[in-house]
Amino acid sequence: MVTADKESNPRIIQGGMGIGISSWNLARAVSMEGHLGVVSGTGIDSLMIRTLQMGDPGAHYRRALHSFPFEKVASKILKTFFVEGGINKDRPFAHLPLPSAKLSADHEEIIVAANFAEVFLAKEDHNGIIGINLLEKLQLTNLPSLFGAMLGGVDYVLMGAGIPREIPGVLDRLALNEDVSIRLSVLGATSGDDFRTFFSPKSLFSEHQLTKLKRPRFLAIISSAAIAMTLAKKASGRVDGFIVEGPTAGGHNAPPRSSSVTNDRGEPVYGEKDSVDLDNLKKIGLPFWLAGSYCSPEKILEAIELGACGVQIGSAFALTDESGLAKDLKEKALALSEAGDLDIFTDPHCSPTQFPFKIARIKGTLSDENLYKARKRICDIGYLRQMYKKDDGTLGYRCPAEPESQFTSKGGNIEDTRGRHCLCNGLLATLGLGNLRSDGSRELPLVTLGDDAKTASRFEADRRGYIARNVLKLLE
Ligand SMILES: Cc1cc2nc3c(=O)[nH]c(=O)nc-3n(C[C@H](O)[C@H](O)[C@H](O)COP(=O)(O)O)c2cc1C
Repeated sequence: MVTADKESNPRIIQGGMGIGISSWNLARAVSMEGHLGVVSGTGIDSLMIRTLQMGDPGAHYRRALHSFPFEKVASKILKTFFVEGGINKDRPFAHLPLPSAKLSADHEEIIVAANFAEVFLAKEDHNGIIGINLLEKLQLTNLPSLFGAMLGGVDYVLMGAGIPREIPGVLDRLALNEDVSIRLSVLGATSGDDFRTFFSPKSLFSEHQLTKLKRPRFLAIISSAAIAMTLAKKASGRVDGFIVEGPTAGGHNAPPRSSSVTNDRGEPVYGEKDSVDLDNLKKIGLPFWLAGSYCSPEKILEAIELGACGVQIGSAFALTDESGLAKDLKEKALALSEAGDLDIFTDPHCSPTQFPFKIARIKGTLSDENLYKARKRICDIGYLRQMYKKDDGTLGYRCPAEPESQFTSKGGNIEDTRGRHCLCNGLLATLGLGNLRSDGSRELPLVTLGDDAKTASRFEADRRGYIARNVLKLLE
């Protein structure tokens, strides 16, 4: 078994892919090969409780929860959600309350435990390094998520989809089990407002003696040297490096800076102004990695020559045996790739975050316009709800993918709802965990992959097996 050197910078980072695509199993496999394996903390509370309701195949979450330092909390979670043999196929999954600025103690415990479990499983029985990926935009769940990951001994935190200025300081404080808070981004808030969410490890686990935790390294995922500079100068604590992500990467992409023009397929067009000024980035003096179609020995060399320590790769790992993507969807994507027919569409409207989002056009998924239109809107998970200031000055929550009438009744503009997809339900369904609806239908998957997936069948070609280790071997 390879032991990664924890002091030096990894050359290859397997990118975080939420929800559950960069599973503990994938991150562990990458880490054991001496690289940085990254789990996703996004939506991991829902993933854990649904897996427990499915009977926890392989007993992995039960094993992790038995190692959770707060025994009573672990037993409570198992008692509430674990179903021996799995729930009946005609029963929907029980779900958690929608996140809000003041989470219940039970909900905080579940988020802490789920993030702990994911990191624990990824680090089990080897000495490699593990990171966790979180989205800055998911402000309401990030504080307990970070604490849970740190309890699991996470080595790196990687965060994008926003400017995570407050997070480095949060890591410093959580390492000492101190109370933390972050300022919330609230539509309609003025400079005099100070909406915050708080997390107190000592209050939540007051029956326990908390011990000091390791402060993980912090890498910010950025799409401009100016943002990197702001973070290096103004973040609340130490930033350890940057991942520079380009517009061909899977998942969300930064919107183009140069124009709002779309091509004849309706995709945003990226130009010269969108490429990151690496000379300026280098002046900051911190290590950086390049991401977005860097999965070949030649591209890795190119990145190194440009001054990077290495690369971050996502799409190629999303289709390995170890990833959380449902097997039938992997097979469909690989068959399309082999035939040269895998269509990856950069959808400017689909994500409630309003960031462009890459969609793999795969039959039977929500990329099919008719299936999208047939889906009855429902918002019962709520990770991507936007916060807004209500007329009475309190905090409100709405999602452009929720039923249109609900969104407009909360002051949202009907135009904002057009073409929006429920990523929460769609992405959980890509793991084979789509929920059952009262009309007997099941939530359909929505697959995200980057442009690099179009040629992913190259990893299958020699029939050694499309596993993380073999992808890494081809990159040597
Ligand atoms: C299925 C999938 C989901 C992703 N989800 C996230 C995410 O939740 N957070 C994030 O920072 N990046 C996400 N990414 C981006 C990856 O971490 C990585 O930067 C990117 O995939 C690199 O480009 P590549 O796909 O060309 O290798 C995702 C990528 C894929 C393919």
